[in-house]
Amino acid sequence: MNTAVPTWLGAIAATHGTPTFAYDLDLVRQQAHRLRQALSHPRLQLLYAIKANPCPAVVRVLLAEGYGIDAVSPGEVALALSLGCPPQRICYTENNMTDAEAADATAAGVLINCGSLDRLQRLAESGVNRAAVRFNPDVGDSEHAYTLTAGPLTKFGIHHSQVAAVRDLEQRSGLRVVGCHMHIGSNVLSAEAFRAAMRVILDAARGLPHLEWVDVGGGLGIPYHPDQKPLDVAAVGRAADELIAELEQHHGRPLELRLEPGRFLVAEAGYLLTTVTSVKTNPDGRTYVGCDTGFNHLIRPTMYGSYHPIANISHPQAPLERVDVVGNVCESGDVFARERELPQPQLGDVLAIGCAGAYGMSMASVYNLRPLPAEVAYEAAQIRLLRRRRSLSELLAELEDQA
Ligand code: LLP
Repeated sequence: MNTAVPTWLGAIAATHGTPTFAYDLDLVRQQAHRLRQALSHPRLQLLYAIKANPCPAVVRVLLAEGYGIDAVSPGEVALALSLGCPPQRICYTENNMTDAEAADATAAGVLINCGSLDRLQRLAESGVNRAAVRFNPDVGDSEHAYTLTAGPLTKFGIHHSQVAAVRDLEQRSGLRVVGCHMHIGSNVLSAEAFRAAMRVILDAARGLPHLEWVDVGGGLGIPYHPDQKPLDVAAVGRAADELIAELEQHHGRPLELRLEPGRFLVAEAGYLLTTVTSVKTNPDGRTYVGCDTGFNHLIRPTMYGSYHPIANISHPQAPLERVDVVGNVCESGDVFARERELPQPQLGDVLAIGCAGAYGMSMASVYNLRPLPAEVAYEAAQIRLLRRRRSLSELLAELEDQA
């Protein structure tokens, strides 16, 4: 099968070579609209989980659409601030942060969303008077154990049953818990899982008298595989509205709804373009199509067994052949696809690996000492280089600097 891909990908590969990440910024904008339109809560604040793709051009599109930023590190906070995001639109969902990181975020006016009682306690002791709390609702959902972030085996969040301890801390200190947060996992395709988890944390949130907003997380899934059904985002929104309405009644005042997706906004807008560098058929009949990229640039198939669509953009009409698409990293797990039907790839063909806009470049490394790919944007029928591919000498110079 050759997945339908935009025609401008060929022009990007011809102009900028491979490996290259190509981002359709118009599509990022459309997804941002789509999400907003699917949600009907009257007090809605959408945040972008910047870890999915911190490329400044991508982030700027989302900031211009009125999105705030969900950040998880000082680096992400710093990028958001440098791109003009006001501190009050940044939520720092911490995970084992240091006291120094907490102090810096507070000094920058960024609210910290605490994932543990001891962090909340230390914030209170340091005189912070507003914070949020991430609860573990004990209900999670995800495509892979590594991206499941709620339930018994997770390091994330304060267990929902410990809300009384949060309340105690509030009463003993000047700290007010103004936000209640959950993030149950990534690439969730079931609205039911969201509803079940929201039910739990919103029950817990009855014990938080100073609450101003409820953030039901990111994790909104997208269909990577042609057989997958898209998530019913409107159903997630309806469930949130209904449950928040109950909580508003309990507290006697309006609350803001927040969502903080990453993947949903950017995954489908990104492609990793790669050139076929070798085609070999073993005596057992298996054909390996080797590429000029590997899991160093797109780790999702190796790390989570994720499916990514692949298209042969050089010969889309070639007869179909069943092949394994593999990378150039010296590890056996460096496989993009097994037994995938593709228009027969030939040496020099350009393949487009789709749904690579989220957790592609942001998780890329220079493993095997191969430089990071270039990043190129397509927007309003124009192609523009965002970040050039680093040269080998630059990479080697960085190693020297570390010595
Ligand atoms: N909020 C928090 C607190 C998160 O930890 C995450 C993702 C998100 C929001 C955004 O989740 P999203 O909407 O993008 O699913 N590398 C994995 C995904 C790890 C996500 C980690 N946290 C992957 O490639 O699937």
